[in-house]
Amino acid sequence: MKNRQHQHRPASLRVGKSRRRSLYLLLLVLVASGLWWLLIHNSSSEDALPNPLLSWLMKIHGGAAMLTTFLAGTFLYTHIVNAWQQGRNRIAGAFTAGGMALIALSGYGLYYFDGEGLRGMAEWLHWIVGFSLPALLWWHIARGRKQRRETRKIVNFPHP
Ligand code: HEM
Ligand code: HEM
Repeated sequence: MKNRQHQHRPASLRVGKSRRRSLYLLLLVLVASGLWWLLIHNSSSEDALPNPLLSWLMKIHGGAAMLTTFLAGTFLYTHIVNAWQQGRNRIAGAFTAGGMALIALSGYGLYYFDGEGLRGMAEWLHWIVGFSLPALLWWHIARGRKQRRETRKIVNFPHP
């Protein structure tokens, strides 16, 4: 079994340019609409009429959120399972996958949780994970690419 694995190229885990760029664009839309929403929401007084921009921002945010979970799903087999089986970039990958799961879970909370406790927790979790996500993804990608370059070097120039 071991020998057979050595004869084959490892299953690909590369992410195509268009999928990678779509992910960046969606994240940008999510962070920008979330941040803008927070700024308006926190600067308007309690008894003021709701700013119509708020609901537009959430319409955009919600749409981008659905597309993002859909896109993240396409990473599962071609990327996550293959990388995990090859033992590559597991720690940063697990954090990234965990971050994606937490942002979706807390997004669910924003829709359906009521009351101070649970609702407040979902909000904080959503903001903290949401604003950390771009940095987390950047760390994950930088680490993964660095590892790939190092593996290539070892394969091309084996030490005696
Ligand atoms: C346990 C989970 C994961 C593992 C083990 C993992 C592993 C890796 C590895 C090994 C690389 C470097 C690939 C290369 O050789 O270029 C990489 C890059 C990348 N990962 Fe992950 N990953 C995981 C989760 C995720 C998730 C959840 C996302 C986003 C939805 C993601 C998005 C990316 C992207 C966009 C790249 C850059 C690929 C490129 O250079 O073109 N990964 N990951
Ligand atoms: C896949 C990723 C994401 C999902 C599934 C998601 C989901 C949601 C959902 C369902 C809502 C409630 C919408 C509404 O009340 O109409 C929401 C609100 C919000 N999201 Fe996201 N979101 C994601 C990413 C992000 C990111 C990256 C940020 C970055 C800051 C963010 C910040 C916010 C903020 C500030 C709100 C308003 C929160 C509130 O009502 O207190 N979200 N999100």
